[in-house]
Formats: sequence, C-alpha cells, structure tokens
Amino acid sequence: MTDETPRPATPDAPEGLYAPAAPLAPAGAPHPAVDGPAQAAAVDHAPDAAAPDLRVALAAVRTEVAKAVVGQDAAVTGLIIALLCRGHVLLEGVPGVAKTLLVRSLSGALSLGTKRVQFTPDLMPGDVTGSLVYDARTAQFSFREGPVFTNLLLADEINRTPPKTQASLLEAMEERQVTVDGVARLLPDPFVVVATQNPVEYEGTYPLPEAQLDRFLLKLLLPLPERLEEVEVLSRHAAGFDPRDLAAAGVRAVAGAQDLARAREQVQRVQVAPEVLGYVVDVCRATRTSPSLSLGVSPRGATALLATSRAWAWLSGRDYVTPDDVQALAHPTLRHRVQLRPEAEIEGVTAESVLDTVLASVPVPR
Ligand SMILES: Nc1ncnc2c1ncn2[C@@H]1O[C@H](COP(=O)(O)OP(=O)(O)OP(=O)(O)O)[C@@H](O)[C@H]1O
Ligand SMILES: [Mg+2]
Repeated sequence: MTDETPRPATPDAPEGLYAPAAPLAPAGAPHPAVDGPAQAAAVDHAPDAAAPDLRVALAAVRTEVAKAVVGQDAAVTGLIIALLCRGHVLLEGVPGVAKTLLVRSLSGALSLGTKRVQFTPDLMPGDVTGSLVYDARTAQFSFREGPVFTNLLLADEINRTPPKTQASLLEAMEERQVTVDGVARLLPDPFVVVATQNPVEYEGTYPLPEAQLDRFLLKLLLPLPERLEEVEVLSRHAAGFDPRDLAAAGVRAVAGAQDLARAREQVQRVQVAPEVLGYVVDVCRATRTSPSLSLGVSPRGATALLATSRAWAWLSGRDYVTPDDVQALAHPTLRHRVQLRPEAEIEGVTAESVLDTVLASVPVPR
C-alpha cells in the first residue's frame, strides 16, 4: 500500500518521524496536503467527482491561514481534520508561538460563526454557557446565550480558569447542548472548540482533569519556529503586519459550513479494511498493557483514532485508510489519553516515547 503522493506535514510530525515534513512553503503557496489536482492522480478509484473540489476549498483555507501564521503546518492540518470530524482540539505550546493567532486566522478563513472566550480566574460558568436574565419590561426571565452558541469557539488559556467553569465548557463539548433551569438548548452544528493552554504549570493554573481530556479529539503541539520561519515572522512585522488586523493581512473567508458538511460526507465513505480496523484496536490495546502507563487508551480513544485516520486518508486523496494513516495520527489523537506511572515519569519516559514503543511493537498489517 505504498502511496506516491507527496506527503504533507502530518498533524503531528515530530522530527518527520512518520512522514516527511512539508517543505517550508511561502505564504500563499498551495499546500500538498490538500492540493486537489495534484492529489487526484493518486486516487485509485475516485470516490466522488466533488472530492477534489472540496480538497481545493480546504487547501484555500490553509493558504488564508498562512497569510498570518508562518509555518505550523502540522497544527493547521490537525485543525482541518478536527473540523472534518467535528471534534474538539487542545492546542498546547509555550507563550508566544501563535496559538491564538492560528485559531483567529482559521476563523477568518471560514465563514462560520466564531467566538472567543479568554478564560480568566474570575470567569463564571454562566459567562460561558449563558444565563437567565430578568427583563424588567416583560417581568420575565429570558435566556441570554453565552459564547458557546457558535460554530468555532476559541477557548483561550483554558487552564487559567477554575474547574467549575472548565466543567461547564467540557459538558457543552460532550453533550453539544446547554441545560439551564431544566431546559436543554442545542448548540449550533458544527460546534468545535479549540482550547489553548501553556504546557508548563504556571502559578494560578488549573490543569484539566484527566477524564475530561478524553473529550478532545486531538491534542496538537505548537513547537517553537525554525530559525528561517522566525526570520519570516519578523520580516512580516517589519513590513507592517498587525496581528490584530487579520483583514488587513488579507485573510478572507474561503470555505463554509456547507463545504465542511460535504467533505464530511466524503470522509464517511472512506473505506477501512478489517485488518486496518484490527490494527487501530491493537495499537490502543497495547497502551493498556504498557508497563509505563497507569491508564491506557479507552475505546472512545480508539474510535477517535479511526475517525482522524479516515479524515487524513481523505485529505491525502485516498478513499481507503492505510496503517500509515493510523501511525501518522496516533500521537496527536492518543497522547492526552494515556497516563504515565510516576516512576516511569521520573525515568524520563513520556507519552510520546510510550506511543513510539507501542507503534514499533504492534505488527503492521501489509
Ligand atoms: N509562527 C508565527 N507566525 C506568525 N506570527 C507569529 C508566529 N509565532 C509568533 N508570532 C507572533 O507572535 C505573536 C504572539 O502570538 P499569540 O498571541 O498567538 O501567541 P500565543 O501562543 O497565543 O501566546 P500565549 O500563550 O501567551 O497566549 C503573534 O501575534 C505574532 O505576531
Ligand atoms: Mg494566546
């Protein structure tokens, strides 16, 4: 099952481990991940005539984001996969690596409802979900929608708010509805949360509970930029780029809910052979017997890996999933769903190294 298609940056390509990282593309350059016509040749049996067009629409989203954000291709791919799966994303990186800018640019590139909440220590659950307010004119209470009533919610610095407020968002993420005063109110479709957090535990942060991390489809890591990328960031600033004014940077909405819905239908048609299904299960089961882990991947995590692998296969121009797809998505889909034993942590074992060991040990169907 070799694939001649040039492989783009995977949603997680630590040192290009599973796929060659994309070359540093200049802003506006078409990205190989979703470059329709170039990919079409690689499709063995074309799934649908519309598929290349939809991939082109998503490639355009990438181009728009690149007008503001230099590099971070892997994270952009991950965000697009999450949109295709209607899954939530946890975006982690040290301060100042463009976590916020990335999600703001993605919002700008999509004609979707988007809102942003800065999670501060004094934020209340009602500030997120909405609350009943008294209207003096009608002498009645009415529901005022909180910022979760949107398509793409940027939950910025989620670990700076206390657990009660985190929980209100995590419930909305899981149930896709908000219940206030006994009345359930459905959230719009799609509803995707992109939450950002800093990796180091600063004073006054509240780490997300392990059980609730499972609700994020992907955890994407934003690395520090390469030197050349950083020079490009600075030269854009020198030329007058203002991160607060994305419209001035030329970021336009180039795809919308309809494109995403049609692309999702395509992803649903991506075939998964029984041996590949078995491979996904074996990888997840192997985490449960790893001596370094106190908690392995749940069956929910296994379904997540299947979903992200399928979306990635479709983005790569195929209508079937390969074991390579599963491997490419294993780290970002599973890294936050495993828990290290304290003794392993002391020895320097990380979730990433455990996943590497697991992937190296589970036989790959060929
Ligand atoms: N890869 C990049 N491309 C373009 N600009 C960048 C990049 N990395 C950093 N910057 C610049 O750094 C600024 C800081 O980015 P941003 O506020 O998005 O960081 P952050 O990761 O959200 O930080 P924090 O954790 O403090 O919230 C951006 O506005 C931009 O000017
Ligand atoms: Mg930020």
